[in-house]
Amino acid sequence: MTSGSRTVLVTGGAGYIASHCIVELLNEGYQVVAVDNFANAVEDPQASGFPESLKRVEQITGKKCIFHKADMNDTQALNAIFQKHEIYCIIHCAALKAVGESVQKPLEYYKSNVGGSINLLMVARNAGVKRFVFSSSATVYGNPQYLPIDEKHPVGVGITNPYGQTKYMVEVILQDLHKSDAAWDIILLRYFNPVGSHESGRIGEDPQGPPNNLMPFVAQVAVGRQPELKVFGSDYDTKDGTGVRDYIHVVDLAKGHVAALKKFEKSFGLKVYNLGTGQGYSVLEMVEAFKKASGRDIQYRKVDRRGGDVPTVYGSAALAEKELNWKCEKGLDDMCRDLWRWQEQNPKGFANK
Ligand code: UFG
Repeated sequence: MTSGSRTVLVTGGAGYIASHCIVELLNEGYQVVAVDNFANAVEDPQASGFPESLKRVEQITGKKCIFHKADMNDTQALNAIFQKHEIYCIIHCAALKAVGESVQKPLEYYKSNVGGSINLLMVARNAGVKRFVFSSSATVYGNPQYLPIDEKHPVGVGITNPYGQTKYMVEVILQDLHKSDAAWDIILLRYFNPVGSHESGRIGEDPQGPPNNLMPFVAQVAVGRQPELKVFGSDYDTKDGTGVRDYIHVVDLAKGHVAALKKFEKSFGLKVYNLGTGQGYSVLEMVEAFKKASGRDIQYRKVDRRGGDVPTVYGSAALAEKELNWKCEKGLDDMCRDLWRWQEQNPKGFANK
């Protein structure tokens, strides 16, 4: 079988990260079966039951993407998908992802992110599909003990919210699964802070309600959807007192998934890779870069620290570079320019109402 005829199941397929992954997979000649429960997605007004984001993915790539509406906890629906398609491997992005909300609704987060992952894994195992890429997060490292964070850094200590715990728990489950059955090939991808959008400006991050994350919020200030940015904390021990993070262009991140899949050509066990740039930028540096890219003023006000935040996080992606032959090609200006293109063309996101 050539890679061109291989079918990749992408869960959370209508979402921000997965839709960018699907563009890269289709461009590389993979077939894609996307699954999403529409918890966080907008329907195509002309084709109900099909996500607007994937309609645009098809327009960008000129290729078709198969879509099924299903929840990760719906065993029957997942079974039907695995019976219908010959799945080569799974990229599991489906999850609830709002850190603050996870503190208010821990049961919903554990059920969706942990329970849903277990259910998906059981269905996959029963169908004999044992190649799995998991969308994990640098949040599993907690408050960094050293910088840059590499994959040997301790995990599971000092995680401050249920969302982060769910990512850590699924990692543990996958480690145990692999120990129980070496036929599983599993890749844990620990993302740092994904930002930006596809350079077409046709797909991007579309938060429902006020954004929790920095860059979507900044972009909404630029188009007047939010009055001003609150800068959470200006007394950290960092270059300018504001929090420092490792922002990675979402297209680089998506390409990291395709690079990871190529490892499945040979059986190789369980592997963990950071996907980041190795470079940290402060909140104020991000605001300045976005001002430059958009030509808009960004009103901001310094306020108290946000609970659970750590001063500085950035990672080393040297292992991914060495073993996956992948590295980031896009810098801060690209991230801001592409985010701005998406926000300016779609001031209200996919719904555009
Ligand atoms: N920030 C502000 N104002 C805002 C939003 C954020 O000043 O309105 C600051 C934060 O205090 C932090 C930085 O911008 O210093 C980045 O914050 P984000 O919320 O964008 O990102 P986090 O680093 O807090 O969290 C992100 C993802 C998580 C993931 C984590 C992994 O949201 O899903 O990275 O490190 F787990």
